[in-house]
Amino acid sequence: MPDMRSSPDDVVAALAERSYLADRGLGTVLYLALTLGKPLLLEGEAGVGKTELAKVTAAALGTRLIRLQCYEGIDVSHALYDWSYAKQMLYIRTLEATGHAADGDVLHELFGPQFLERRPLLDAIDNDDAVPPVLLIDEIDRADDEFEAFLLELLSDFQVTIPEIGTITAKRRPVVFLTSNRTRELHEALKRRCLYHWVSHPELEREIEIVRSRVPGVPERLAAEAARFVHQLRTIDLAKVPGIAETIDWTQALMALGQEELEAGVVDATLGSVLKYHEDLDRVRDADLARLVAGAKATL
Ligand SMILES: Nc1ncnc2c1ncn2[C@@H]1O[C@H](COP(=O)(O)OP(=O)(O)OP(=O)(O)O)[C@@H](O)[C@H]1O
Ligand SMILES: [Mg+2]
Repeated sequence: MPDMRSSPDDVVAALAERSYLADRGLGTVLYLALTLGKPLLLEGEAGVGKTELAKVTAAALGTRLIRLQCYEGIDVSHALYDWSYAKQMLYIRTLEATGHAADGDVLHELFGPQFLERRPLLDAIDNDDAVPPVLLIDEIDRADDEFEAFLLELLSDFQVTIPEIGTITAKRRPVVFLTSNRTRELHEALKRRCLYHWVSHPELEREIEIVRSRVPGVPERLAAEAARFVHQLRTIDLAKVPGIAETIDWTQALMALGQEELEAGVVDATLGSVLKYHEDLDRVRDADLARLVAGAKATL
């Protein structure tokens, strides 16, 4: 089995074994992230395989994936740690019932490791895994500025301070992925700490390969025509351009309907697997459908 820390080619091969087809650019930057121990920031449109790369990397390294999904308003108590109020209360009640006084020692105990709720970031830093885990900080652009500043600190020294307990430093640094859909620009300072890669839509040949590896048993002709159709869609000015995920979903739908190749009627009926906006559907149906089907079927 290829070792992801040997060379960029081995990274590409290890990912391919798990049906993730990366180009050399992505293979190289991931190789560097793994060997230099730097976080990898992946930006790109929806459905181009950013999240999947982190999952597949964890599987290829034989380690677990710890995922932090970001959202507006995410804070330290969701991301790092919290105190389990319910457990603390239960403990106090039990002490009271058995006639113990809630003195200073008890108070100290209440804010000890036993009552700490570990959230993804603490889990990733304070790990005892033989192979360090993969930490995926997904969709960081959805979190707000303060959270980004907090992450910056964390990614600089891989340590966190919990006032009641002390400072915890990672014995072994996790492999860190950050992803962004670029709904806003990230701060320079955060970018500087990461290796950066823009994940674009794959070239046609690669997308055909991806469909073939992700949709077992797909007729070759159907895979090629579906991928070509979606490629043409990406050149149209749409509200939401379809990603690889849509190509795969659509091909599965076509296969479920027993299609061996594209046909205008079935394309029309299944277009909702590819385009998720009403305006986009109308536009393609009114203006482009027949032309796109013909284009997808034309041999290159
Ligand atoms: N290079 C690839 N090789 C194989 N499959 C891929 C590849 N890229 C994407 N996929 C497929 O596309 C699906 C969607 O990818 P993923 O969820 O990682 O996209 P994303 O970039 O994280 O999108 P979003 O920004 O919407 O979260 C994956 O489940 C996977 O099946
Ligand atoms: Mg994602």
